Amino acid sequence: MPVVRTLTRVAKQMTLSPACGCQVSVMPIRSIGFSPRQVPSDASFHSVSFSETDHPRVLITGGLGQLGVGLAKLLRKRYGKNNVILSDIRKPPDSVFYSGPFIYSDILDYKNLREIVVNNRITWLIHYSALLSAVGEANVPLARAVNITGLHNILDIAAEHGLRLFVPSTIGAFGPTSPRNPTPDLCVQRPRTIYGVSKVHAELMGEYYHYRYGLDFRCLRYPGIISADSQPGGGTTDYAVQIFHDAIKTGRFTCNLKPDTRLPMMYIDDCLKATLEVMEAPASSLTMRTYNINAMSFTPEELAQEVQKHMTELEVVYDVDAIRQAIADSWPMNFDDSNARKDWGWKHDFDMAELVTTMLNYLNSERLAFQAN
Ligand SMILES: NC(=O)c1ccc[n+]([C@@H]2O[C@H](COP(=O)([O-])OP(=O)(O)OC[C@H]3O[C@@H](n4cnc5c(N)ncnc54)[C@H](O)[C@@H]3O)[C@@H](O)[C@H]2O)c1
Repeated sequence: MPVVRTLTRVAKQMTLSPACGCQVSVMPIRSIGFSPRQVPSDASFHSVSFSETDHPRVLITGGLGQLGVGLAKLLRKRYGKNNVILSDIRKPPDSVFYSGPFIYSDILDYKNLREIVVNNRITWLIHYSALLSAVGEANVPLARAVNITGLHNILDIAAEHGLRLFVPSTIGAFGPTSPRNPTPDLCVQRPRTIYGVSKVHAELMGEYYHYRYGLDFRCLRYPGIISADSQPGGGTTDYAVQIFHDAIKTGRFTCNLKPDTRLPMMYIDDCLKATLEVMEAPASSLTMRTYNINAMSFTPEELAQEVQKHMTELEVVYDVDAIRQAIADSWPMNFDDSNARKDWGWKHDFDMAELVTTMLNYLNSERLAFQAN
């Protein structure tokens, strides 16, 4: 797979060793000059570097994954096509390339990132680049580089240039010792994946930069996201997307999690809406910087039954992947998102029935259009 090849190449570059056998960091060493921004004791300080009446200038990193293209579409509708720049290390398909500004950006390249932010007068940074849970476990050095070193670059750039920064976290930021049903915003977080560890690190570093340097850091813990027009990037909740594709293509679905594995989930439109809302929320409404958001919670068996209401012939078998199952068993079964609902009015639109109808309608109409051509 091209993505995997690219990522493997980056991993090799990251761990190149000189003749002495020492590990060399390819990241530039730098210090942060925050002089204008240091207001450490004022928790209500926020770095709004654009006039509130103007449109923000947005950069989305890792924009070619499951979520970035949809978010760019939503933000472009609101702020104008040229005010939202998608970036990634992969080559965009024609449909993305011709729909608005796209730029190459490797988040491990600090100078290149800074140049993009400066030259394009970026005011909001949406940081989507990451290696997800299952892919991360398969390549820990690369996950550590992209998810942790990459985040450090993003934090420094955002702080130096007074950006509003959004970094998504995940249900994977919790672990087996967290309360699982429901999981509140504040509790023990001892995840057992590099993905989870890197996301707890991101939450803590973002909050630290907020309190220490006034960085306008905003973070939502997304549940598993389900989308029809984009493929998931190697997470533990991917089965909940794959079931729809397989149901329509073959009428048979092999699930890699046990039938009773309950996880929090959300339709992509709700996820993107929440991201926009928290970015636009007045700073005074945010009592925290990292919020759980949720829409529904179901098991593979429950999802299959809902799909079978529309496609009675769908056959579901279970072939459990031990690694994904262990990850899922350590994650929240349900998310308590009452703080998001209270503080900035979070409200989901899609429940499981609505999700299933929407996914099947979309994929069926896509198949009919394909057959007609
Ligand atoms: N999709 C979900 O269900 C879900 C759930 C919770 C949180 N999240 C978070 O949301 C964000 C977006 O998720 P997604 O599903 O779109 O991920 P994805 O895996 O589909 O996409 C991630 C993108 O990051 C890019 N990337 C990898 N290394 C990079 C580098 N060095 N520089 C720049 N880009 C690089 C990849 O090319 C890819 O396009 C991630 O941070 C993820 O942790 C996603």
